[in-house]
Amino acid sequence: MSQTTFSDSAYHLDDDLLRERLEALRPIPRISIQAFCETAEVAQVIEAAGGDRRMAKAHMRVHTGGIRAAAEHYASAPTPNLVILESQFGPAELLAELDTLADVCDPGSKVVVVGHCNDVSLYRELTRRGVSEYVLAPLSLSDLIGLVSQLFAAPDAAPLGRSIGFVGAKGGVGSSTVCHNVAWSIAKLFASDVVLADLDLAFGTANINFDKDPPQGVAEAVFSADRLDDVFLDRLLAKCGDHLSLLAAPSTLDRTYDFEAEAFTPLIEAAQRGTPSVLLDVPHAWNDWTRSVLQRIDEIVIVATPDLANLRNAKNLVDTLRRLRPNDAPPRLVLNQTGIPKRPEIDAGEFAEPLGLVPLASIAFDPAVFGMAANTGRMVCESEPKHPSVQAFAEIAHTVTGRNSAKRSQKPARSSLFGLMRRR
Ligand SMILES: Nc1ncnc2c1ncn2[C@@H]1O[C@H](COP(=O)(O)OP(=O)(O)OP(=O)(O)O)[C@@H](O)[C@H]1O
Ligand SMILES: [Mg+2]
Repeated sequence: MSQTTFSDSAYHLDDDLLRERLEALRPIPRISIQAFCETAEVAQVIEAAGGDRRMAKAHMRVHTGGIRAAAEHYASAPTPNLVILESQFGPAELLAELDTLADVCDPGSKVVVVGHCNDVSLYRELTRRGVSEYVLAPLSLSDLIGLVSQLFAAPDAAPLGRSIGFVGAKGGVGSSTVCHNVAWSIAKLFASDVVLADLDLAFGTANINFDKDPPQGVAEAVFSADRLDDVFLDRLLAKCGDHLSLLAAPSTLDRTYDFEAEAFTPLIEAAQRGTPSVLLDVPHAWNDWTRSVLQRIDEIVIVATPDLANLRNAKNLVDTLRRLRPNDAPPRLVLNQTGIPKRPEIDAGEFAEPLGLVPLASIAFDPAVFGMAANTGRMVCESEPKHPSVQAFAEIAHTVTGRNSAKRSQKPARSSLFGLMRRR
């Protein structure tokens, strides 16, 4: 049992002590938190914590009903970064209820249980099942913010964000278009925060595609990397929706953009500390810094059109990235602009086979829909929600964020899901 959670269970702390404890806590990053409470007392404390300035960036929602209500809710909704579950049950019933949740809880979500039963063996069993913390009710506001801070903002906490880069096997294959639509889909589908960084400083199109022209963005972040902290980064972000923020490229040519290999590392690390998904639109280029970005990030998506030059380049990229990242899964492959009339093309299976990959998605060439979206500064997902590519973007969004896309149609066996939960 952790000291922080069990030592301080007084519901009403005196004001000075509360202030002192809160002062010591770090701001909570852009996470989504949902609580399912059985008692008004616990719900009130969580609501009050949501109003604290340290939680200003987090998205908090408090529901009534305990674990059962959560399981019903998540049968048809994505799980947030943190689920807080209150249960007044004793160990046996609590564990049984939790089993129903395991079937619908994505492995990337952390779970905290607020219980009413002071039982060490229950705590151990919950930890064994992948629950991040068991706290005894009543809990104080500082307990709660302290706990969230410990899980997501502590210096030794695992980086919150997953960094996902998109790169074209050739120029103009639609890598940026796919990247931007996937960023939009992650924000929309999972109500989870995304930072999209356009690393194509000279020619980046994210500003056009989202119809945003912020005065600052990725250039300030990379040229002032030595003073880049969370507050500075926040000021550079342009909001594109409830959960989507853009670090736009200047897209001007008044200077050149040559960078050292590690130039983007502080930016990517800072973004990953504060946001669950960091999407990087990496230009089609091969130099010290693009190689270093691709070597360091969590997921790589190569976008290609099915012709010979794309195949040659994709093969070189896949082989090189396998060598640079021997302990990581290979990059993902997305085929785009397939089926251009009269253009001979390589069949998807033949294209993917020499790469040793199965394409994650194949998106047909549709100049009317993509052209209209690009010219009106909207995502295809917004302007044509029923377009087949929207399903492909959703599939890519699920996979690159480590979500279980078939959660509702093909539930995995409970044992395997708990295995996944335990790995957190
Ligand atoms: N599936 C598609 N069907 C039709 N047009 C598409 C499709 N995907 C992208 N496009 C269009 O192709 C053009 C190039 O797209 P985009 O800028 O995303 O490519 P890129 O690979 O990022 O290019 P660059 O190498 O310049 O960075 C854009 O006009 C875009 O609207
Ligand atoms: Mg591009």
